[in-house]
Amino acid sequence: MKLCATLTVLGLLVMGSRAQGVMPSVSFPPCDSPEAEAAALVAQDFLNAQHTHGYKYALNQIEEIKIVSMPLQADTYHLELDFLETTCHVLDPTPVSLCPVRQKFNTAVEADCDFVLANTTQGLSVVAFKCKTETESDECLGCPQLVRLNDADGLQLIASSLDYFNKNNTLNTKFALLEIGRMTSQIASGGPRYFAEYAIIGTNCTSQDDDICIPQNHNVAIHGLCLAEGSAKLNDVDCKIFGPTQAADPASNATVQVQKLLHAHTFGPQHNPSIHSLKHHKLTAIHDPSASSLLSAESSESAESVKVVPKVATVVKREVPATEGPAVDAAASEKTHVLSKPVLLAPICPGKNKHF
Ligand SMILES: *[C@@H]1O[C@H](CO)[C@@H](O)[C@H](O)[C@H]1NC(C)=O
Ligand SMILES: *[C@@H]1O[C@H](CO)[C@@H](O)[C@H](O)[C@H]1NC(C)=O
Ligand SMILES: *[C@@H]1O[C@H](CO)[C@@H](O)[C@H](O)[C@H]1NC(C)=O
Ligand SMILES: *[C@@H]1O[C@H](CO)[C@@H](O)[C@H](O)[C@H]1NC(C)=O
Repeated sequence: MKLCATLTVLGLLVMGSRAQGVMPSVSFPPCDSPEAEAAALVAQDFLNAQHTHGYKYALNQIEEIKIVSMPLQADTYHLELDFLETTCHVLDPTPVSLCPVRQKFNTAVEADCDFVLANTTQGLSVVAFKCKTETESDECLGCPQLVRLNDADGLQLIASSLDYFNKNNTLNTKFALLEIGRMTSQIASGGPRYFAEYAIIGTNCTSQDDDICIPQNHNVAIHGLCLAEGSAKLNDVDCKIFGPTQAADPASNATVQVQKLLHAHTFGPQHNPSIHSLKHHKLTAIHDPSASSLLSAESSESAESVKVVPKVATVVKREVPATEGPAVDAAASEKTHVLSKPVLLAPICPGKNKHF
């Protein structure tokens, strides 16, 4: 306890002395360096573990990284990362590295995130982050377009396909709707065609029970992600079942054909009408508001400019021990420093696009 207090005081002294000339040293590893990659993957895992609805996100690009070192403090990693939404639901145990990202013709969802991580003795941990999600789609007349998550025809497709799946699945279980992932519609010759993705949760009812069906507790429930497709006449539904969370069993597939429209009555515990005004699931905007000062005001703007302005002249600097005085650079002067010393011609940031 006393040691802890001493360290805190020392920390404060260091912080205080910053104004008097003891400046942090800042290093800029290449965006595709193993060091940057390791930090970005910690951020990716954190992002996927912290949200309980929607889809997993996969790292697409490391846009910027800087490591700030202060004497007697854990190094902090400041990253600007670009993620893409995958087709794996967050409840799907498939490792995110095996999850396909959604392509632009399917309206990709992209997340621009700023992360601050600390490299403590326990390893890298996330201190703060903020994300901004937006959709990106190809200009395509015949492509399915996202519709609002409360679209009446889309909801009807979900209700009928879930009802069908409930009566016909091989697990002899009635599922409740957990959440709607996305809905699209496409102009087709026989009238609009709808596509819906929704997550389901097992209830205490079997397929035959015509009773009040209560969703099981999340820890023991079987979950699934269903893809339903149809017009008024013909529907298909395909549900991938995950098994209880952390179950050893690999996910099994249960596919049935939907031939008639029926009605579902069940909505799961996380069925949240407020998401219905949106067309896609958003990420938590800010993780820890009290730590948001760590996320510099520049980041949201520079996230845009990084994409446009080619960074030709980024300087790689070795980390310099603070005791070497003059060689230590202030974070504040980093911009000027970068501009005044164009020693590298090949851009080292942003890193390469892993997907598109
Ligand atoms: C964290 O710091 C340790 C030394 O304190 C270093 O060996 C390690 O490479 C750092 N981690 C990362 C991801 O840079
Ligand atoms: C179950 O599926 C079969 C076709 O596979 C269909 O004939 C039957 O009507 C379905 N049962 C229900 C209750 O919808
Ligand atoms: C499911 O649980 C509810 C609430 O406990 C109960 O009313 C209902 O009868 C149960 N259904 C079945 C099929 O056991
Ligand atoms: C589920 O379907 C996928 C492809 O659709 C297949 O690769 C996989 O083996 C199936 N899993 C099971 C358990 O049937």
